[in-house]
Amino acid sequence: MKFIIDDANIAKVKEIWDLYPCDGVTTNPSILAKSGRNPYEVLSELREIVGKDGELHVQVVSKDAEGMIKEAGVIREKLGENTFVKIPTTPQGLKAMKTLAPQGVNITATAIYTPMQAFLAAKAGAKYTAPYINRIDNFGYNGVQVAMDIQDIFENNNLPCEVLAASFKNSQQVLELTKYGIGAATIGCEVIENLIRNKAIDAAIDVFNSDFASITGEGKTMADC
Ligand code: E4P
Repeated sequence: MKFIIDDANIAKVKEIWDLYPCDGVTTNPSILAKSGRNPYEVLSELREIVGKDGELHVQVVSKDAEGMIKEAGVIREKLGENTFVKIPTTPQGLKAMKTLAPQGVNITATAIYTPMQAFLAAKAGAKYTAPYINRIDNFGYNGVQVAMDIQDIFENNNLPCEVLAASFKNSQQVLELTKYGIGAATIGCEVIENLIRNKAIDAAIDVFNSDFASITGEGKTMADC
């Protein structure tokens, strides 16, 4: 499973990128709006963090296929041709995907709430489809199950598309999809930080360290005793 950061807070993304085994960064217009800055200024900084070969996903805002295609061109021109263009999975979005995919554009089909949207996006050439786990849960449906169904549909139909599960609010949602071997998960910094936050881990390490100090003295490590 690819492990992707769903955030555009530059300081936070840098910190998480430095510590965790990350594969890329995803954004959407709401995430970019939180910065209050020019979107391309923020996105260029994110591109620097992930490197020229890292995954960066950027969403279009046009509602019609023509506008989406135009935005895709500018996004790739400014941020690199390998940038994933996130396209909402509407009928106009599918039209844009059908045009862009044969041109070699990396497409992430987004705003996915149902398996049928994902199936059609994959048929239209998307490389990733992004079901919104927590938002689906909030409707009273099961977001994790929707993501699993999408993965099964891709396998059963030999569709070369991966699930990029998004919109996580807790570790349990991430764990369930990790166990299922989902293609990728994109997770906000706060949820990432809670994935392995556990007082039992800290307590265990404290005991190891104080036992070690009892034979070497305070502040010594395996590097200097
Ligand atoms: C990713 O593609 C989505 O834009 C994002 O994960 C939505 O997350 P939210 O439901 O927390 O806003």
